[in-house]
Amino acid sequence: MSLGGRVALVTGAARGIGRSIALALARAGADIVLNYAGNRAAAEETARQIEALGRRVLIWQANVADGEQVNQMVAGALEKMGRVDILVNNAGIARDNLIPRLKEQDWDEVLDVNLKGAFNCIKAVTRPMLKARYGRIINITSVVALSGNAGQANYVASKAGLIGLTKAVARELASRQITCNAVAPGLIETDMTAVLPEDLKQAMLRNIPLGRPGLPDDVASLVVFLAGPGAAYITGQVIAVDGGLQM
Ligand code: NAI
Repeated sequence: MSLGGRVALVTGAARGIGRSIALALARAGADIVLNYAGNRAAAEETARQIEALGRRVLIWQANVADGEQVNQMVAGALEKMGRVDILVNNAGIARDNLIPRLKEQDWDEVLDVNLKGAFNCIKAVTRPMLKARYGRIINITSVVALSGNAGQANYVASKAGLIGLTKAVARELASRQITCNAVAPGLIETDMTAVLPEDLKQAMLRNIPLGRPGLPDDVASLVVFLAGPGAAYITGQVIAVDGGLQM
């Protein structure tokens, strides 16, 4: 159990990639703080699966874009679970449109959740991690942050910002043995990509050397590695999980 005795906070963990990450961390031995935005039933189902693995789980509803709610969540996690060793900033939304049709509100919401949300969580866990002189921060960005993508100016900007944030945090916290890395998934089969037009998915698939879309578990296994002892000397990196789409 590479993560035995550790506590991991995973945002947006009720479903999709976040759920897979929470379960994979639990399988590796970590207790889980399961953040969700609104779907209590999905969060409880994920929590049930974590408990079935023999781990402790704390479910916490919070909008990551709201700094006060995030502070309360981290305070609650420290009180009930005793520590937060691992933070996975997974919560994310997309509001796609071409620039002339992209509303200011859709720009703001996507930046608020995807980028400010990650900052809020990093800020809240930094003090306990500095005290512990240990921490693993993993930000879920996207390959489109590296390549750009038409119709996703807000999403791409938020995910590229997350890469800059990752490197700044990595440099700022390295002296206390806190690492910060970004994971960049390609096309992963989840609710978020289920709504993409079929022709767009087929076009993406043609460019994936490994010839298939990714699964949430493909992302989760890298997160477990980055959270574990084998990744102690890796920080400030962006690692793609995309079947070779970006190279
Ligand atoms: P999803 O839509 O299934 O999951 C996103 C989760 O974030 C949901 O559980 C949602 O409730 C939660 N969330 C949204 N706003 C929130 C908020 N304000 N506070 C707390 N939680 C909130 O999507 P999926 O595919 O599982 O995505 C997970 C992450 O992976 C996202 O950051 C996404 O941008 C990223 N990603 C996904 C890719 C894909 O192909 N599915 C590709 C690249 C990146």
